[in-house]
Amino acid sequence: MEKVVLITGANSGVGRSLALLSASKGSSVVMVCRNRERGEKAKEDIIRLSGNNSVHLIIADLSSLDSVKNAAKEFKSGFNNLNVLVNNAGINLPSLEITSDGYEKVFATNHLAYFYLTSLLLGVLKSSAPSRIINVSSNAQSAININDLMSEKKYYQYKAYGRSKMANVLFTYELAERLKGTGVTVNAVHPGVVKTNIYETVHGFPRFLIGLMMPFFMSPGKSAEYIMPLMYSDEFNNVTGKYFYKTVETQTKKGSYDVDLRKKLWEVSENLVK
Ligand SMILES: NC(=O)c1ccc[n+]([C@@H]2O[C@H](COP(=O)([O-])OP(=O)(O)OC[C@H]3O[C@@H](n4cnc5c(N)ncnc54)[C@H](OP(=O)(O)O)[C@@H]3O)[C@@H](O)[C@H]2O)c1
Repeated sequence: MEKVVLITGANSGVGRSLALLSASKGSSVVMVCRNRERGEKAKEDIIRLSGNNSVHLIIADLSSLDSVKNAAKEFKSGFNNLNVLVNNAGINLPSLEITSDGYEKVFATNHLAYFYLTSLLLGVLKSSAPSRIINVSSNAQSAININDLMSEKKYYQYKAYGRSKMANVLFTYELAERLKGTGVTVNAVHPGVVKTNIYETVHGFPRFLIGLMMPFFMSPGKSAEYIMPLMYSDEFNNVTGKYFYKTVETQTKKGSYDVDLRKKLWEVSENLVK
């Protein structure tokens, strides 16, 4: 039976390339996108380029818990199994934005959505085992202050983004422990420094520098090629709780191996999605 793959943020960048490569392999691909027009356009392109009609679209604003819940419900009403879940959708905002749930938007989108969507889909992932979860993190991961996850004191763009990407890693390590013996693996990846829209929200001098370096950034297609083996290759059948860059297991940043911290983040996240 062909695999069913769900990819968030699948209309652009790394997510779109992963969706195209997965469809080209013959998988049924479910794209979770926030904007219908962009989602439909990407879906049509992927069907045309892959020749695979089994490409589906779910519209969800992953910064909203209700919307995440509805996306999981819609998926489960259409599919009985899920072989690969790729939590990929991400943002990097220059100033503080608050979601409809009252949470800082980068943390909500980049971490809470990964956490909540995964927990809502765990049942189907387990019943589809062997199955895999891939969390797209970043080498930009930075320290987490568990008492100030929402930037209540002051908002700094790079701290907010780095914290959310550290949360991806802590979540991956804790989830791997909790999923032992279930046949569901979970790993995190750094996709590389990739030429995508994520840099559109970087302004000022950093933007100028990025503009200069952009021609040397990896293409989304190349980045996706490095992630695909983690989704499909037998080589990774029993690999879980690891972090990869270009399919090579890599160390994560300071603080990421703190077991108390990851358990605390789990507990806080669970309360925040209730
Ligand atoms: N590019 C890099 O160099 C780099 C480096 C390290 C890690 N990453 C990570 O790679 C992942 C993919 O990013 P990318 O570089 O491919 O950037 P991208 O092209 O901007 O893709 C991000 C995707 O997430 C979607 N998204 C954002 N907010 C959403 C929401 N509230 N609900 C649903 N979807 C939402 C975007 O939708 P719209 O198109 O509608 O905005 C887009 O499809 C992110 O997790 C990012 O942190 C990227």
